[in-house]
Amino acid sequence: MSNWKATAVSCSNIALIKYWGNRDQALRLPSNPSLSMNLAELTTTTHVEFDPSLTSDVLILDGREVTGSGRARVSRFLDQVRNETSEVSHLFARVESRNNFPAGAGLASSASGFAALAVAASAAAGLTLSEAELSRLARLGSGSACRSVPGGFVEWALGADDQSSYAYSIASADHWDLRDIVALIDVEHKSVGSTEGHAVADTSPLQAARVATAPDRLAQARSAVLGRDFAALADVVERDSLMMHAVMITSSPSLMYWQPATIAIMQAVVQWRANGLAACTTIDAGPNVHVICTAEAAEEVALRLRVIPGVRQVIAARAGGPARLMANL
Ligand code: PMV
Repeated sequence: MSNWKATAVSCSNIALIKYWGNRDQALRLPSNPSLSMNLAELTTTTHVEFDPSLTSDVLILDGREVTGSGRARVSRFLDQVRNETSEVSHLFARVESRNNFPAGAGLASSASGFAALAVAASAAAGLTLSEAELSRLARLGSGSACRSVPGGFVEWALGADDQSSYAYSIASADHWDLRDIVALIDVEHKSVGSTEGHAVADTSPLQAARVATAPDRLAQARSAVLGRDFAALADVVERDSLMMHAVMITSSPSLMYWQPATIAIMQAVVQWRANGLAACTTIDAGPNVHVICTAEAAEEVALRLRVIPGVRQVIAARAGGPARLMANL
């Protein structure tokens, strides 16, 4: 097959137990283990073609050519693949990547982006990698991307080193029909990206306590997922997200991602849950709120989120499958 091209599709993922901070920044070896759910409706499709006529790598993102630091990050990633095989070691690549979710909405595309890139670039280079090897490779592009390679509910254990730090599925997507109802909130100014954020995590005195207690929260979340115990999951998911934001807010510089609508939703959801709706919140490095809920609660959650001032759009996602190669286009 390998005519030096391949296409892959990958889901984004939402962390139920967050990854924040690295013990090795260059290799993206995490300070703590994390747990996530792939999001079936939020995907990136990436086509990679190694081409002897190119004089540099080319990156097209959602139809627009990207140069500068964005392209440099992808080139460094492709170097990892080029180093693995003499077939393409001397060739540049054209990478065309498309997200099916709104660009600039503040939804993380690096997880699905680097997972799809890992699968497509390695296949285009003629490499046959195991799921663990693909997850490890994706991690080098973006830490959370390693969790978008396997399917369903996914754990990223610490690992001892570069080779052993990868993610694996603890349950498939059909194990539990959990939903992520994402409330997109107006973003007034560009916030600090996660790569810079990880780099300053240790400046917060709270990070050591967060990291030390993360394995306990992960164990609670894992058993809540495996036992489909929503009340137990909600408790630990909200606490873990708040712990990460406590670290962010108290870092130097302080990273305050919340906006007024973010807090309004967090408070509303606590109230809804107290009144019997199976929903809880978790927030990444941005103002958007992910409301994790049961299938039964999903419609009601979406209706209620839509009328909260500051909510621009609501996107609903189910648990998604693994990153996969598509028929060669
Ligand atoms: O993969 P990165 O470097 O974009 O980091 C992601 C960090 C969070 O989204 C905030 C948490 C997580 O575990 O996904």
